Parts: sequence; structure tokens; C-alpha cells
Amino acid sequence: MPTQKILVLAGDCLGPEVMVQARRVLAWLNDTGAASFEIEEGLVGGASYDAHRTPLTNETVDLAMAADAVLFGSIGGPQWEEVDYDLRPEKGLLRLRQGMGLFANLRPAIVFDALAGASSLKTELVKGLDIMIVRELIGGVYFGEPRGIEDMGDEGQRGYNTQAYSTREIVRIAHVAFDLARKRGKRVCSVDKANVMESGVVWREETTLLRDAHYQDVDLNHMFIDNCSMQLVRAPKQFDVILTDNLFGDILSDLAAMLTGSLGMLPSASLGATGDDGRQPALYEPVHGSAPDIAGQNKGNPLAQILSLSMMLRYSFDMAQQADLIENAVEAVLAKNIRTGDIAGDGMTPVSTIEMGDAVLAEMEALAS
Ligand code: IPM
Ligand code: MG
Repeated sequence: MPTQKILVLAGDCLGPEVMVQARRVLAWLNDTGAASFEIEEGLVGGASYDAHRTPLTNETVDLAMAADAVLFGSIGGPQWEEVDYDLRPEKGLLRLRQGMGLFANLRPAIVFDALAGASSLKTELVKGLDIMIVRELIGGVYFGEPRGIEDMGDEGQRGYNTQAYSTREIVRIAHVAFDLARKRGKRVCSVDKANVMESGVVWREETTLLRDAHYQDVDLNHMFIDNCSMQLVRAPKQFDVILTDNLFGDILSDLAAMLTGSLGMLPSASLGATGDDGRQPALYEPVHGSAPDIAGQNKGNPLAQILSLSMMLRYSFDMAQQADLIENAVEAVLAKNIRTGDIAGDGMTPVSTIEMGDAVLAEMEALAS
């Protein structure tokens, strides 16, 4: 069995706490011989700022590129709010995405049967929901130039950013969406604001051209972002794969996550282009942030972090069996009504972060024997 090198970047606040539980799962896979992982650790975000006065060092980027995959926690917290804008924890994550060339962000929004009642929408609207949001991750207004804040003297100031997308950027992310759709429901909904923004006009043209040239077996429709937000809460099951840009994807993925009952459940994958050596840069992280309000209290939900690990096994290491084991264990735990506070229903006593980790490991043990 090949040894896989994983770089663990736990980050800040809730990140390290839930990462401990994912690492227990990693250790279990190693100890039982189900996998062979070599684990390295690095600093990112506020933790890196505190140690090195920057939210991301070049050494960390090098470690990430040398690893077979990165397991990321979450970054940020109130203690770094006064830090220079360019040195904020979030900038560490953005620079890591850019440094690793992670242009494709896959954010599944899946409703576990046991949690259909935890959604803020009616159960019948979300039961069985399975959407994949494909978000462009290193372009658009997040990185566009020029950007800045201009002093306008007596008139105050002016903040500005640039939204731009080129054919190359659109085509490479659209390929990812169409390829994924082929393995699912064969439908892509591409989301833009072409009625107002030129970048959206180009986005719409290029996705259509690509579909006609290479993916005639996949159904493509286009939606404006405002309509899509509305449709997601009106009838979310109409969607299979949603393809969209960096900013719209950021917003829609939080919205879609909440349809599933809790942000604390959802993993994500960020992938780069496969190199000539066959290696693909990859980073896996929970969709939830660092949740400073509940950090350090042993009550955050570690499942998104654990499911990010299973996504890594599936996408980077082709370990479908081990990924299934983790996901089945999570399902079994939920079916027994073992819940952290964010997903506990009426009358359930929430378990702690550590107890949730215990429960997942116990189910893995039971399923494996
Ligand atoms: C996300 C987060 C990040 C983003 C922040 C932390 C920079 O919200 O991964 O969705 O905006 O991309
Ligand atoms: Mg976000």
C-alpha cells in the first residue's frame, strides 16, 4: 500500500478542536492497516500570524505542494481583527488557494436522512437533497486587479474591486462541472449576472460553447444569481450541479449548506490541475468557519471535518471503501440520534465534540468487524 503524505493545517479557534477528531479517524485507519498515512503539520491563518507575523509562509505553501493532500481546519477569529488587512487570517487561506492553483471548489450539499427535520425548510422540500456546487476559486472579484481603497480628500474615500473572467478560467472550471455532472444527474445549472455584468456575458457564452462542443449528453441551463438564490429556497431539489464564480459560489454554498440543517455537516474539496507527473494539488476543508463563539468549549460539530477527510480519501487517494466506511459510520451515528448542539432536535441532549468523535470511531470499529 503506498504511503500518502497529508499536511494538516488546523488553523484557528474551532479548527484545531475538530481536527483532533479527524486525526483520530486518520490514526484508526493507520492502526488497523486500512491505510498508510504520513502526517505533517503546519500553521496557517492567525496561528501563523502569531508565530511568523504572516498568515501564510512560503514554507507552508511548499509543504502543501509536497504533500499528496492538505487537510485544512478553519481560520480567523476576533483576536486578529485589528491586524493589517493584508495580513488577516483569511488572506492566508486565499493565498494558499492561489499558491496551490486550487481553481475548483466542490461543495456538496447533501441532506442525511436522519437530519431532514433539522433543515429550516419543510422536510419534504429537502429530504434526499443532493446538490454539488462547483465554485471557481482563484479568480473573479476575489483576486481581480485593480483593487484598493482610494482617499478622495473632502469627499471621503472609495473602495473598489474588479470582477473579470477569461475564457481559460471559465472553461477549466466548466470542465469540472460537466465531468462531475456526467457521474451524477447529467444536469448543470450555470449561475451568473449576465444581465448586468460583462463578465457574466462571457461566462454564459463560454459555458454554452463548451457544452455544445464536448458535453452534448449533459443538460445545461443558465440562471441569474438572484433567481438562483430564490430557487434554492423555493425548490432546491431541481438542482444537480451548480456551476458558478468565486463570489456567487461563496454566497450560494452557505445558503445551500443551511438547507441541509447545519453548516457543521458539510465538507469541501479544492482541486488544482493535474500535472504532467499525474499529481493533483488538493485541499479539503469544512465549509463552516472557525466559529469563535463556540470554540474552546468542546461543543462544535466535528463531522464536517471528518467528512472532509473522507472526501480526501475518495477524490485524492481513490480509497472509496475507506471513505464509505467513514460516511456509513457518520450515518449510523446520526441515526442513533447522537448529535452535537447544532443538529440536536427537540428533546435530544447534545453531545460534545469529543463524544461525537468517540461515536464515529465506535461505529467504524463496529462496521469494520
Ligand atoms: C469560504 C470562506 C472564505 C471565502 C473566506 C474565509 C476567505 O467564506 O471558504 O467560503 O470567502 O472563500
Ligand atoms: Mg464562505
